[in-house]
Amino acid sequence: EDPKLITSPTSQTGKAIFYAAEKLRSSDIPVAFPTETVYGLGADATRDEAVKNIFAVKGRPTDNPLIVHIGSLKQARDLLRPSNSPASEKSNYDIPEIYAPLIEKFWPGPLTILLPLPRNSKLSPYVYSTQVTVGVRMPSHPVALALALTSNVPIAAPSANKSGLPSPTTAKHVREDLYKLVELILDGGSCDVGLESTVVDGLSNPPAILRPGGVSLEQIRACKGWEGTIVHKEDAIPGSAGSTAGANVAPRAPGMKYKHYSPTCGVRLYLPEADMPSITELKATAFGSDSKVVRLGVLRTRRWKEFGEKERNWLAEKNVDVVEESLGESGEEISRRLFGALRRMDDEGVMVVHIEGVEEDMEGLAVMNRLKKAASVVIRKKS
Ligand code: TXA
Ligand code: MG
Repeated sequence: EDPKLITSPTSQTGKAIFYAAEKLRSSDIPVAFPTETVYGLGADATRDEAVKNIFAVKGRPTDNPLIVHIGSLKQARDLLRPSNSPASEKSNYDIPEIYAPLIEKFWPGPLTILLPLPRNSKLSPYVYSTQVTVGVRMPSHPVALALALTSNVPIAAPSANKSGLPSPTTAKHVREDLYKLVELILDGGSCDVGLESTVVDGLSNPPAILRPGGVSLEQIRACKGWEGTIVHKEDAIPGSAGSTAGANVAPRAPGMKYKHYSPTCGVRLYLPEADMPSITELKATAFGSDSKVVRLGVLRTRRWKEFGEKERNWLAEKNVDVVEESLGESGEEISRRLFGALRRMDDEGVMVVHIEGVEEDMEGLAVMNRLKKAASVVIRKKS
């Protein structure tokens, strides 16, 4: 299971990966790369300066820990080993048994597990901040895997967006956000999953999902030992309204307390039980359309109908221009297209986007988690 090192790449892709791996090992400027979930902004997780630069480039709060990406189980086990213990001494440092069925099923793939940090970890403390665990993921994108194996270092990588914006699902999104702040973006096309990995904690009892993502709650619960998995409620975060977990409970996935995934435009999220907005309701959200043309966005999923010509003309007369798009019907399509569509709304100069929400099962749980964070208004009722 030892990784084969690519020593003389011949293809363009091989050369690009080899070059990026060299950068990771030798430069303090982070490298952007594709994964199957979203693009990552990577640095050698053992080097302080390189990891610190991730936070600087993204504008990310330093108490929000990073996920470490590995290309083999050996690289994962190495993270459990204190830095002063010899590499040969391996059997004493193994991944906790509870994770075995998840690793078997979902690695490589969109799943991040929390591993205990050894007393004397070789990871930079900037990776895990005040946590006693480190989030670890084996991505399935061939470029990400090759980068981890070729560089042969653990890669700390958050999503490669400016902090607060939707995560990037194309190399172009990364360039728009981090232009001039990074020297290298590996372009691996559009991300297949489109939403970030599911973060699970198997060290707590019962085991918990800290962030819903590319692997669903249903899929996790189908694994031995994970039947009773709970989903960590964000309102357990201290200080937030409706806190249920007591004032002294630390947020479990620290990143969840920050505003995230928002386009610059206003977002009105409609829960599945709410009706589609009528043209008069749309018009009411187009502030300023009395004096100039205002653009509104409509992102539909399963039930909403496209506006017809009659409705569009009525709106046009009232200085309202509508940009409509379908996110698709299946959970997979909606996940894949969501972040790109939110960014498109900003590119098109949309003032307010109306979004049709979905049921919170399967992929819908992660989709709605991201949409609720992006929303300025949530509409629950029938009109
Ligand atoms: O799919 C993904 O996970 C992408 C790609 C690049 O791999 N990465 C990503 O990273 O979404 P980021 O930094 O944007 O989100 C990491 C999330 C945050 O909510 C963070 O708080 C949580 O994982 N996290 C990381 N380490 C943790 C730890 N030790 N304990 C609890 N939560 C942790
Ligand atoms: Mg992120």
